Amino acid sequence: MSESLIEVRDNAGIVRLTINRPKALNALNSEVIAELERLLVDLEGRDDLRAVLITGAGEKAFVAGADITEMRGKSPQQARDFAGQALRTIKRLETLPVPVVALVNGFCLGGGCELALACDWAVASDNAIFGQPEVQLGVIPGFGGTQRLPRRVGPAMALDLVTTGRKIDAAEALRIGLVNRVMTQDELEAYADELAGQLGGNGPQAVRSAKQAVHDGLDQDLDSALALENSLFALCFACEEQTEGMGAFVEKRKPNFR
Ligand code: HXC
Repeated sequence: MSESLIEVRDNAGIVRLTINRPKALNALNSEVIAELERLLVDLEGRDDLRAVLITGAGEKAFVAGADITEMRGKSPQQARDFAGQALRTIKRLETLPVPVVALVNGFCLGGGCELALACDWAVASDNAIFGQPEVQLGVIPGFGGTQRLPRRVGPAMALDLVTTGRKIDAAEALRIGLVNRVMTQDELEAYADELAGQLGGNGPQAVRSAKQAVHDGLDQDLDSALALENSLFALCFACEEQTEGMGAFVEKRKPNFR
């Protein structure tokens, strides 16, 4: 049986997706993107989903970009379709209702960096290398990098990276806010357990509402976004989680969220 292009591990609703093309440094070809989209459609419907982690197989790369060998012969229309398929898939990842975290375990270039940017946050191993080197190939980022990178690190740093194509190490990625934390490969391996421990004690619906408030609010002016928060906050008081969470505090016990 052939190995799957994306490995899936599920530990009590914390789902870990591993892009599995290590010989090509996990480069994203159309097959990988289609497989990722299929998996995300399944995950979208799962009420027990708590978080999604995405990483790359092997110790060398998260994802070294879109597959250059596949892209090189494409016509403009084929290139648009290829990027369109990836944009749609990456958007699905971004809009999952639970936290989505990139575990960046090595090269994170081009389409790989764009995949990480669609995650709610990223943690990196200390050997990770980031960049948007597309201009060195005569193209520009096509999986959302020109839009999500400036939103994450500011337009000046994004323009520095997308026009020079220079690569940066994990320390610089941390300094500019591209990643939240840097750790060793071993610590990165254990991060799923750490996250399970942290999220496990929280109200699952509250975690989803917190993500929704941040994401939807960012697309609105501040007054509308604050009104959105107010509505989502009020909605918490219609859920059992609030009764349990606040009740547990008053009764000096741990909450037991279902
Ligand atoms: C296809 C790739 C690849 C890629 C690596 N490989 N990156 N294949 N697409 N993006 C393949 C290599 O061809 C090689 O295959 C194998 O993986 C190992 O890579 P090496 O180059 O031998 O490794 P190393 O010398 O350690 O260099 C690592 C590297 C380099 C610095 C990451 O591979 C590299 O520069 N890769 C391309 C990075 C890049 O430009 N990414 C952006 C792509 S454009 P063989 O068969 O020779 O062993 C992009 C656009 C997105 O992402 C939007 C499009 C719409």
